[in-house]
Amino acid sequence: MMPGPMHLPGGRRPAQPTPQQALRDFDDTGYAQGPSRHLEHLLEAGCVLRFARMPFVLREGEARFLDPRWSNGQAKNISLRESGELRGAQGQEAELAQLRALIERFAQQSAQLVERLFPQYRGKLRAGNASLRPFEVETRHRSWRQDDTRLHVDAFPSNPMRGVRLLRVFTNVHPGQRARQWRVGEAFADFAERFAPRLRPAFPGSARLLRLLRVTKALRTPYDEAMLQLHDLAKADLDYQRDAPQAAVDFAPGSTWVVFSDQVLHAVMGGQHMMEQTFYLHPDDQLVPSTAPLRVLERVLGRDLGVPARHP
Ligand code: SIN
Ligand code: FE
Repeated sequence: MMPGPMHLPGGRRPAQPTPQQALRDFDDTGYAQGPSRHLEHLLEAGCVLRFARMPFVLREGEARFLDPRWSNGQAKNISLRESGELRGAQGQEAELAQLRALIERFAQQSAQLVERLFPQYRGKLRAGNASLRPFEVETRHRSWRQDDTRLHVDAFPSNPMRGVRLLRVFTNVHPGQRARQWRVGEAFADFAERFAPRLRPAFPGSARLLRLLRVTKALRTPYDEAMLQLHDLAKADLDYQRDAPQAAVDFAPGSTWVVFSDQVLHAVMGGQHMMEQTFYLHPDDQLVPSTAPLRVLERVLGRDLGVPARHP
């Protein structure tokens, strides 16, 4: 079933996919190879686009990087920052150069993929960090707030998005059989309505204070405040975690999937070895800007949540 139009007469709520409808499968086998897809509408409706046979092909000598020993033990991922800096890794210089080349290649292929899938966003997406995630999900122990085995939408305490969208490309690079196991939750509008009564505006002046203390990299807007509270309210609510509408989704090794992770409720339950590339998109550059979490939250809360920056 296709999600319906986003504006319906008579003020009815737009149709949103249920967790069971959110998964959409495609048979493209290469990031760059395949038709120009025009999947913006599905992505913006909150679907998870899965390409079950789209592996990231490792080159000779690269399989050794699928091992947590390359992590410096501090960061949870090995990441190639927007600045070009490789973070979170340890090893000899020559080895790290190869590791960097691997992540760079994933970044390039992800860019080719989104260019092909979403022609409407051409020239508008900006690439953020790319990462290699070598740790086993099940044995990672974290505080409840950092526990991604709980359903959440992505929002970062130190990195205000101010309404800018988070589009993510993931590939399971596990060398054996281990699927990346996710749960996918209810539509963002339902989630926002459910928790809206518990959202509180930030204390006056707190955004400036956090910026001054360098807790945040930019000023938080009311949007960031709302998204962080939603993230925390969902993760802290064990009844919600257990009872909310949700569906289990497996991503086998060799599969690639694409989501707006600031919109799709998601949780990771198992797996190891994944690559990820983040892209930013201004909500006004969407096909249907009214589906952006910023706009949905403004409608639900009945107040302005700040002007989105051009980039986070
Ligand atoms: C997340 O964004 O919650 C993590 C996804 C994953 O590790 O598979
Ligand atoms: Fe997440």
